[in-house]
Amino acid sequence: MYYRREIKDGIYHLSGNDRRLSRFENMFTLPKGVSYNSFLILDEKTCLIDGMDNAVRETFDSGVASLLDGRSLDYFIIQHVEPDHCASINDVLMVHPGAKLVISRIGLNLLKQFFPDAANMGIDYDEISIIVKEGDTLDLGEHKLQFIGAPNVHWPEVIMTYDKTYKVLFSADAFGAFRAPDGHIYADQVDYEKDWLDEARRYYFNIVGRQGNAVQKVLDKAKDLEIEAICPIHGLCYRTPETISYIVEKYDTWSSYEAETSGVVIVYSSMYGNNARVADTLATILSEEDVQHIKVHDVSESEISEIIADLFRYSNALIFGMNYNTELFPKMDALLREITMLNYQNRKISYIAAKSWGGRGVNIAQDILSSSKDMTQVGDIVTIAGAMGQDQLSELEDLAKAIKKSL
Ligand SMILES: [Fe+2]
Ligand SMILES: [Fe+2]
Repeated sequence: MYYRREIKDGIYHLSGNDRRLSRFENMFTLPKGVSYNSFLILDEKTCLIDGMDNAVRETFDSGVASLLDGRSLDYFIIQHVEPDHCASINDVLMVHPGAKLVISRIGLNLLKQFFPDAANMGIDYDEISIIVKEGDTLDLGEHKLQFIGAPNVHWPEVIMTYDKTYKVLFSADAFGAFRAPDGHIYADQVDYEKDWLDEARRYYFNIVGRQGNAVQKVLDKAKDLEIEAICPIHGLCYRTPETISYIVEKYDTWSSYEAETSGVVIVYSSMYGNNARVADTLATILSEEDVQHIKVHDVSESEISEIIADLFRYSNALIFGMNYNTELFPKMDALLREITMLNYQNRKISYIAAKSWGGRGVNIAQDILSSSKDMTQVGDIVTIAGAMGQDQLSELEDLAKAIKKSL
């Protein structure tokens, strides 16, 4: 069953929602689900742009069959080989043996690596593939498609597709978001800032955050295009000048590693609640200092991808990484290693340290973050032995004042 949704003349939107998957890539929680988008163009030639995940295979299959309505599929553009978009590729090719795959050279190699059973199904990817690169075009009749290389946004093979006739940019993973839509498919139909931005940011930094330079290159290319719609393969599409410039500007900020919001993220580890009270007290003092944006995370309780998104969002971080068995508390250690892997940089950072178990935790935290570029330490390190007493409040006040001054 498929309900036809035409987004421009001849361009149809297929969307599969998965609200049952607990973790995307077996990493990131999905409290609001996730969606997969495909697009089918019906013209003199028929052309499918990307597939979907196995979880929504029936939605995808019935949509493609319903739209083609007995016509054969001429082209299947594979913008991104990751299995959440390619899972049913062989099913499509079995039903449409004459279809040509349109794919980058790296994409073809990856396709063979990820779907080695194709040969057993009588499918020879080499034989049916048209290799495309930057600037190549595909003529469907009225729709003239042009390909844009987008390596490493998210994988190295990624291409984007620009419909020159209707000025639609099919952007692969870029501009996507976690969250399954509630019926609406355009950003202008929802309260995007309230209901979608956090999940778009969490998706961006955890999925492609490391590849800021690659995203900047694509944004540069997009400047030369007249764009009336952006259609990613997760989440909502963008069709108004306001929503298009909004998300492009967000991507520009995020990919250049500039802070989006002037504010502080406090991340603490706490075994007995003592450190949690210190973190909350510091947050209270920051509030009294008129710091507007303050987020507090317990590294053992908050979803790590949310902490990561906040660390990238805000200008300042306070790391309270206590010790454990003479090392840094393992969950804090993992968090700091993950954000440096994602190219965390250009932020102001403060520390609170604990003396227990030898007190080396803060040194390990500093050591991990020493691989991050353009980090500025703010305030003196406040060191606590056991639990903080009233006599140390002035040290927290000094730290809060230094943070406030740095904003
Ligand atoms: Fe991906
Ligand atoms: Fe994806």
